[in-house]
Amino acid sequence: MSEAVAIAHPNIALTKYWGKRPGAGRFPAVPSLSVTLAGLSTRTRVRFDGALSRDRVVLNGSTADGETEARAVELLDRVRAASGDARFAEVESRNDFPTASGLASSASGFAALALAASRAIGLAWDAARVSDLARRSSVSAARSLFGGYVELDAGAPVGQSPMDDILAARPLAPGAHLPLAVLVCVTSEAPKAVGSTAGMKTTLNESPYAEAWLSYAPRLHARLREALLARDFTAVGAFAESSALAMHASAIAAGVVYWTGATLEVFAAVRALRAAGVAAFATIDAGPHVKILVQPGDAARAKAAAVAVPGVRRVIEASVGEGARLEAPPGVGAAKAT
Ligand code: DP6
Repeated sequence: MSEAVAIAHPNIALTKYWGKRPGAGRFPAVPSLSVTLAGLSTRTRVRFDGALSRDRVVLNGSTADGETEARAVELLDRVRAASGDARFAEVESRNDFPTASGLASSASGFAALALAASRAIGLAWDAARVSDLARRSSVSAARSLFGGYVELDAGAPVGQSPMDDILAARPLAPGAHLPLAVLVCVTSEAPKAVGSTAGMKTTLNESPYAEAWLSYAPRLHARLREALLARDFTAVGAFAESSALAMHASAIAAGVVYWTGATLEVFAAVRALRAAGVAAFATIDAGPHVKILVQPGDAARAKAAAVAVPGVRRVIEASVGEGARLEAPPGVGAAKAT
């Protein structure tokens, strides 16, 4: 079969990956733990065809820009090298959520592309191998292969592993383990000025707090992981907020500022919710939007507070979702990545 369609969902990191290990390869410098989101998806179709003279990449109906196309072609080159099949491919990918929503479209995008491309070219890889392939294009994408709560280790220190070492995410607990609602507070429709790849590089190279971040992140990760396994929602929320604040503090000290006035206003609203007795916590990725973490029973109250914040354009409500999966050809049952 030379064609496959995969569906993947974005994920939100509770403990953030921010910074790559020095040296070659796309290895994270710190461990991360995320939750895969339901209700938002990327659907990607890949077709290898001997009649094509180059790869074609179409995103949301338009030809992909140069940089995005180059990243997709790199992934296609990897599956061509692994399979020994030199054919070019046609890639068509579509998000069912607004790309400027602050949700990591590169995570769901590369997870879906990795799964569809590896299957379309005939590689019978398991989910871990596909997660590793996605990680080589965008580290956070490794986590979207799996559903529920997902963990990704830091890469081994330089010199202790070859750059082609496999590093895959793994599922830690299903969504039902700790029910969660994620309220994505969209504060701007503009694309971000500094992408995460560049932002984390500047942070590690220039922030006076880079070392502090690199030593704090793994300790915080271990504590959040423990709190999650113990189903302690309040501790998970508090550690998640701490991870986002520490990541942004180190970035801001290097001049990498993703926050706007609206970001701070939503943060203030989250603190006000907590003062009023609601267990609500905030997390922020490489953009101005805030994601509020609450237990499902508190979602309506938190959402009402969020939409009232000046500068919040809309609030998207998401819950915990499944990992990436292949869409079965008509008449065949669906297959999961795992
Ligand atoms: C703040 O995975 O987009 O969302 O590996 O350079 O593609 P690259 O970066 P990317 O960074 C995500 C950063 C983050 C935190 C996280 O998702 O862990």
